[in-house]
Amino acid sequence: MQDWLKKVEAAKNLEELENIRIGVFGKKGFLAAEFLRMKELDPEAKKLLAKELNDIKESVGSALEAKKEKLAAQALKEQLEKEKIDVTLLHTKSSAGALHPVLSTMDKMIEYFISMNFSIETGPIVENDFNNFEALNLPKHHPARDMQDTFYMKDSMLLRTHTSSVQIRTMLSQKPPIRMIAPGAVCRRDYDLTHVPMFHQVEGLVVEEGDKVSFANLKSLLEEFLKYMFGDVKVRFRPSFFPFTEPSAEVDISCVFCGGDGCRVCKHTGWLEVLGCGIVDPNVFKAVGYKNVSGYAFGLGVERFSMLLNNTSDMRSLFEGDLRLMEQFV
Ligand code: PHE
Repeated sequence: MQDWLKKVEAAKNLEELENIRIGVFGKKGFLAAEFLRMKELDPEAKKLLAKELNDIKESVGSALEAKKEKLAAQALKEQLEKEKIDVTLLHTKSSAGALHPVLSTMDKMIEYFISMNFSIETGPIVENDFNNFEALNLPKHHPARDMQDTFYMKDSMLLRTHTSSVQIRTMLSQKPPIRMIAPGAVCRRDYDLTHVPMFHQVEGLVVEEGDKVSFANLKSLLEEFLKYMFGDVKVRFRPSFFPFTEPSAEVDISCVFCGGDGCRVCKHTGWLEVLGCGIVDPNVFKAVGYKNVSGYAFGLGVERFSMLLNNTSDMRSLFEGDLRLMEQFV
């Protein structure tokens, strides 16, 4: 018996231990052989051997059990040691880029107008006076030119002050019907909480032959568009003035922050102005040589929409490249 106990004690792993167990308890093991031998003994010796074998069975059995537990714990410890992860290790942060909030707002707008069958037109930021002003019923010395603080360049070139210049480019190069939007950057000499010198607009223009296009068409398109952008808001059209549209309107939505009750953002009016629009002035069609057509146009500021959608209070912060702001849009 001492031999067996010593062997159990010396076992180095679970496999060795199992071999010992088979050697003692297995079908062809020590105990089985001893019990076989018992048959030949006289009753007295049989009794003695039976007791001895039962003792061996018990003590070797429990020694095996105890050793097994010990070895299993040891094996687990070794495994954990081997697979240890150093959680204090310095990490290199992996960061992914994301669309700038102005761009993602613009994408959302473009998606809507594409679904309404509008094409996308573009034009250069450096524009001539004709496309940006003259053809839009803004002759030289017209007082309304002051509304748009223009960056002038050499040879009567300028940085376009609105995407309306793309209306002219498109009409000069295509025949009606036209159903287009023009997303893009524009420039004005302005810099404060709600103005930056370079910002983005989405222009819209629809022209059809005859007198098919009406203000009602414009109204329903813009109402649906604004609900798509802002959800369940009220929309109102206010008479206004643009040299290139007549009649003209500015469009307000009920304040997305206070629901129309009045707050700091809507200056306690309950309304937020979001775009300008109107029926295309006949002088514009004259300038591009269109006859017998009717149309509507609209223009909106993408930064303003983005600020309302994302609750940004200072437009300038959109262009400072501060990652603490930008990371909120990832
Ligand atoms: N171009 C105008 C602006 O920049 C917006 C506008 C576009 C208004 C088309 C009416 C029609 O303010």
